[in-house]
Amino acid sequence: MDAPIVAVENITKVFKDQISLPVRALTDVSFQIQEGEFVALCGPSGSGKTTLLNLIGCLDQPTRGKVFFDGEEISRLGQQALTRYRLEKIGFIFQDYNLIPTLTALENIEYVLWLQGIPSAQRRKRALVICERFGIAKLVTRRPPQLSRGQQQRAAVARAVIHKPRIVLGDELTANLDHKTGTELMDFLKELNREEKITFIYATHDPMIMARASRVIRLEDGQLVDDLRQY
Ligand SMILES: Nc1ncnc2c1ncn2[C@@H]1O[C@H](COP(=O)(O)OP(=O)(O)O)[C@@H](O)[C@H]1O
Ligand SMILES: [Mg+2]
Repeated sequence: MDAPIVAVENITKVFKDQISLPVRALTDVSFQIQEGEFVALCGPSGSGKTTLLNLIGCLDQPTRGKVFFDGEEISRLGQQALTRYRLEKIGFIFQDYNLIPTLTALENIEYVLWLQGIPSAQRRKRALVICERFGIAKLVTRRPPQLSRGQQQRAAVARAVIHKPRIVLGDELTANLDHKTGTELMDFLKELNREEKITFIYATHDPMIMARASRVIRLEDGQLVDDLRQY
């Protein structure tokens, strides 16, 4: 078997600040994910899903334990290396989409390429190709508030994959979508997973969305309680 694309080793995360009691969000969690997997991260609200995604995405650091990407330990990288890693290797799809309301859909989708310093003509071309594929080409001059939730979600997915990341992390992707739009979105992500070999890790507590995963990792109270492959 190849080296895993993501490995978390004995991760513990405790949130501490000056005022409140410490909160233990994750306790000694370990697993490995191979390239091309389509993984659902499940568990009740408060079980640690978002915390875990943030650690894999290098948006936060573990209190104890290590996170590896492609064999390299990322949990202790410096700021600059982390920024590069996030920019090149990872796509994020957040629960509330995080589209920038003052930019058009197209500008939102191009944003990562802009951060990467790709020239504007090339950015635009790539963004238009992906919008065509995502069925939102006619809407790209609109700003997010003028799009339906399903359209906003497609724009958020387009933005997450435009730079051809190795993995895409999604947090409650379908939480605000109706059933049909939600399952369409998942089928679409699965297609990207098959065709481009992008590894997906997404948090959800929707059984329909879990059913589409090739593997389900379950958390309860910050601990990994189940890890099942499904076919
Ligand atoms: N920044 C934070 N500061 C303090 N506690 C936090 C913070 N983020 C999450 N938590 C706590 O960590 C636990 C796990 O939260 P979270 O990862 O958001 O769970 P989930 O995404 O499964 O709902 C919860 O008890 C939550 O209140
Ligand atoms: Mg969450």
